[in-house]
Amino acid sequence: MFQHKTIQSLQSKKKRGDKITMLTAYDYPTGKILDQTGIDIVLVGDSLANVVLGLASTREVGMDEMIHHAKAVRRGVEQALLVGDMPFTGYQLRPEDAVVNAKRFIKEAGCHGVKVEWFEHCLEVTENILAAGIPVMGHVGLTPQTAEQLGGFKVQGKDADTARQILEHAIALEKKGCFSIVLECIPAKLAQLITKKLSIPTIGIGAGVHCDGQVLVTNDLLGLFDRYKPKFVKQYANLMTLAKEGVTQFKEEVEKGRFPDADHSFSMNPQEFERLKVKR
Ligand code: KIV
Repeated sequence: MFQHKTIQSLQSKKKRGDKITMLTAYDYPTGKILDQTGIDIVLVGDSLANVVLGLASTREVGMDEMIHHAKAVRRGVEQALLVGDMPFTGYQLRPEDAVVNAKRFIKEAGCHGVKVEWFEHCLEVTENILAAGIPVMGHVGLTPQTAEQLGGFKVQGKDADTARQILEHAIALEKKGCFSIVLECIPAKLAQLITKKLSIPTIGIGAGVHCDGQVLVTNDLLGLFDRYKPKFVKQYANLMTLAKEGVTQFKEEVEKGRFPDADHSFSMNPQEFERLKVKR
């Protein structure tokens, strides 16, 4: 129904001024829903740690868990570009592990590329992954894996000096060869400036409307995560409430002996049942 998404088709969208859509997925059904609605990029985000595994920080999720979930998403995605999010322990802890781990996303999980967050050795790591032939998406502004060093989970680049730094990070990543860059939690004006300066697409989250595309964590968008809700999240559905209603109804019907009814049970030929009773 939708055309296969490629790095080139994203680039064309930017040129035409058509918006790019990206959402996260961590399992087969979500991958399938996103794919069938024509979302351009499906990101197996390390937000897996918070919204699916119930952990406190994205730093707590490891490569094996990311690959396990990426493989499940892959089975549901046919047309979208699939990007694996490099977890903190996969490249920031020991930058020399980055290429081996990026290759795992491609070879084991069938991803088309990987995403890396800005950190001290980001340019070197990006260069090495690209040299291995793996497309890289950058991520600047608020970078959750190193949020403590940025003063916590707050808007970045509000003054000219820090804004210039973020702009320089984005330009440096484009020069290295990234195919796209996520801009997280920065003022809309700064995101607009970066978007104009770069020839590769920018994907914003909490970065205003002028980015080339937008990303949200799917579990936030669908109301499947209620531990906290950043200001930039818009909830488009409340699946948690719907799920609770369904589960409550099941519980009541079982307790009252109303489920399963005849429509959900199997019958047996009465003669066979008689034969069974006689033999006993
Ligand atoms: O892990 C994630 O979900 C992300 C997106 C918010 C961009 O990095």
